Amino acid sequence: MKGKLVIVMVGLPARGKSTMARKLGRTLEMDGVRVRIFNNGELRRKLDTDFSTSSSEFFSPANVQGKEMRERISQLNIEQAQAFLQEGGEVAVIDASNVTRERRRNIDAAFPALPMLYVECVNADEEALEANLERKAGLKEFRHLSREKALESFVRRIHYYESIYEPLDEEPNRILVDSFDSCILQERISEVLPYYDRIRDIITTRVVRNLYLVRHGETFYNREDRIGGDSDLTDRGQDQANALAEHFATIRIPIIFTSNHKRTLQTATPIAERQQPCSIIALPEFNEINAGVCEHMTYEQVRRQMPEVARERGPNKYRYVYPEGEGYATMEERVHRGLKKVFFLNNYDENIMIVGHRAVNRMILSSFLSRQEAEIPFIYMPQDRYYHIQIDPHKRIFELIPYRSVATAGIGW
Ligand code: F6P
Repeated sequence: MKGKLVIVMVGLPARGKSTMARKLGRTLEMDGVRVRIFNNGELRRKLDTDFSTSSSEFFSPANVQGKEMRERISQLNIEQAQAFLQEGGEVAVIDASNVTRERRRNIDAAFPALPMLYVECVNADEEALEANLERKAGLKEFRHLSREKALESFVRRIHYYESIYEPLDEEPNRILVDSFDSCILQERISEVLPYYDRIRDIITTRVVRNLYLVRHGETFYNREDRIGGDSDLTDRGQDQANALAEHFATIRIPIIFTSNHKRTLQTATPIAERQQPCSIIALPEFNEINAGVCEHMTYEQVRRQMPEVARERGPNKYRYVYPEGEGYATMEERVHRGLKKVFFLNNYDENIMIVGHRAVNRMILSSFLSRQEAEIPFIYMPQDRYYHIQIDPHKRIFELIPYRSVATAGIGW
C-alpha cells in the first residue's frame, strides 16, 4: 500500500536504532519507495567543530544549553523531514533517541496529517551491548580521548538518557523490537499504516549487504592434518593472509570478526593493516569445533587409536559429539549467537568480514543456505578462496571467489 509515513525511532544509545533505521530505509528504497533518514547524531556531529557535544555533560538533563541545542537539532531534522515529504518523499525516518514523551509530542505535532509509526529498539543482551559500547568508544567523535575515557564518557551519556527515559505507551502505533534478536516483542497498531506488513518483514528478516566469509590461512596443524589446537600460520598461510590483504585493499572493511584462535587473528591482521581504520573483534562464539579427546591428533591417529570415533562420526557427522568436546549440532547455538553479535555490531551499510574456521564457517554458511543437516559438515571450505554472500528481499548471492594475487598464483597446493 502506497502513501506517506513517518517512522520515529526510539531507544537508548547503542541499542541498534540506526542500524535498524538504515535496514528499513535501504530495503524500502529497493522496493521503489522514496525514503530518507534524518539522524540527529549525524547532524550534531556535523555542527560540532570542537568536540564540545561529544562530552557526556552535553547530554546531562541539567545542562540547559545542551538541551536547547539538542532540541534545535531535532527541530532542524523535523523541518527537513517535512520538506522532504512535501516534495514527494514517501517515508521519513526520524532517527534519534526520542526518549521523552515531550520530544515525541513535538514530533507528532509537526506531522498532524500523517500516520506515525514509533519503533522502539531494546537489547537485553549484556555482552552484545558491552561490545557495542566498545565499538562506539572507538568512533571519530571520541578520538581526542583515550579509549578508557571515551568509554566512561559514553556510559555516562547513556545514564543521562536512562534518567529521562519514558518508554512508548501512549503512541497509537508502536512496535517494540529486540534489535539483537531481530524480533518483534510487542506491537500495537491502531490504524491501517502504509508499508506496515513490509516493515514487519524487514525488521525480522536478515539482510546481508556484503559478507565476506574467509577461512584462516594454512597452519602447521593443517599441514599435518591435525585436529583443533591453536597453531600458527605457516609461511604459506602468511602468504595467503597477505594475498587477502591485497585482494581486499580496495574494498572497505571497517571491522573484521575472528575467533580467539591465533590462526584467525594472524590472517586478519594484514587485512586490517591495509584498511584505514579497521578493528578486529575476536568472538569466542567463532572458535573452532572443540574436538575433545581428539584435539591435537591427526585424522589418521584417530582412525588407528580411536576407531570407534571414526566409525561413529563418519555416517552421522552433524549429530556426532566428540567425547569431552562438541559436535556440529551442539555448536549451532553459539555460532548463531556470534552471528547475531556481528549483525548488531556492524553498521548496516558496511561490508562485513568474518575470518573463521572450517567447521565454524560451514555453520555460518548453512545459516544462510537451506541445506540438509547431513550435508553441512561436508560444505566445501577451502583456504584459497572465500565466500561472498549477499541477501536481500530481491536477491540471494553466494559466490566462492579465489583471492590469490598474481604474485603468489604460481604456488599450487
Ligand atoms: O582440520 C582443521 C579443522 O578446522 C579442525 O580443527 C576441525 O576439527 C576440523 O577442521 C573440522 O572439520 P571436520 O568436521 O570435517 O573434521
